[in-house]
Amino acid sequence: MKNVLVTGGSGYIGSVVTKRLLERGYDVTVFDNLERGHRCNADARSELIIGDLRNADEILAAMKKVMPDAVLHFAAYALVGESMANPMMYFENNVKGGVNLLSAMDEVGCKRIIFSSSCATYGVPPSLPIDETMQQKPTNPYGHSKLMFEQMCIWLQETKGFKPTFLRYFNAAGAALGMVEDHEPETHIIPNVLKVALGQKEFVQVFGDDYPTPDGTCIRDYVHLEDLSSAHILALEKEAVGAFNLGTGKGISVKEIVEACRKVTGHPIPVKMCPRRPGDPPALYASGSKAREVMGWNPKHSDIETIVRDAWAAHQKFPNGYEEGE
Ligand SMILES: NC(=O)c1ccc[n+]([C@@H]2O[C@H](COP(=O)([O-])OP(=O)(O)OC[C@H]3O[C@@H](n4cnc5c(N)ncnc54)[C@H](O)[C@@H]3O)[C@@H](O)[C@H]2O)c1
Repeated sequence: MKNVLVTGGSGYIGSVVTKRLLERGYDVTVFDNLERGHRCNADARSELIIGDLRNADEILAAMKKVMPDAVLHFAAYALVGESMANPMMYFENNVKGGVNLLSAMDEVGCKRIIFSSSCATYGVPPSLPIDETMQQKPTNPYGHSKLMFEQMCIWLQETKGFKPTFLRYFNAAGAALGMVEDHEPETHIIPNVLKVALGQKEFVQVFGDDYPTPDGTCIRDYVHLEDLSSAHILALEKEAVGAFNLGTGKGISVKEIVEACRKVTGHPIPVKMCPRRPGDPPALYASGSKAREVMGWNPKHSDIETIVRDAWAAHQKFPNGYEEGE
């Protein structure tokens, strides 16, 4: 399993996993259209094939060239709001692109896939923490597109001997290996709070402080990129097939995030309270115990201070993100 194809390997999470795989001696080829990734995330030790999953010929040609033992599939659109505004864009990219990927794998006989799935496949859970046996009932097209890809994989497992792993990330956060989170638009909370500390925004908007949580703000489960990365390597090396939640089991509130950012940056970070956003569940956090028990996953970088400290170092190095075209 040393020859791997990484789709979306120029993006925020895929670029870190790519570098960690290279360090462990894997032959890595990245397949990315660079639409939402960055060329400068490419590593000279890996090959970058610029191609689009929505083009069946491009992914098939890449698959035939690489003949991978396994595919790590990160490439997708990943913005909930955008998916509500334009659902077909999400089904085109995440589902049709996924069909092309799985067909190409089938054609060359590659059966191992590790898929970047999401807590968004669960929707609003009946109880917390969320474990893998809970019903998946997505509440937006993004989450549904991720669930549809999982379901296609399950049928290929049933009928063709595919070996899929679904790593259902909770909130990816932090920074690693000298790279920075640079999404346009940026919807993730930590980079947005840090923009205030960088003097690029006057205040942070907090959407709702009257939720039924201890401090009234929403609670989410933040996982450091290094811990997401180690889960991919464990899944690959331990042949851990099936679904795994990648969360810490510990929720962090929006107010706690802001407080951690104040502590790390030394900036007062003013806050503006705003009304709740429709559809935001009060709390989402995972039970990560299956990943711990089956794969031996130990998310040791995911305390909020480490996450914020590493993100802050990266944002200070790249205060405006990457240059255009990078
Ligand atoms: N960031 C999170 O908190 C989070 C949480 C849960 C799941 N995920 C999933 O993890 C994966 C990676 O997320 P990210 O934050 O690194 O996203 P990202 O947007 O930074 O990276 C995605 C990469 O995929 C590429 N891509 C997109 N569509 C493509 C296509 N049709 N063909 C080729 N390349 C294409 C983009 O150019 C980009 O480099 C996504 O599948 C996302 O759904 C992310």
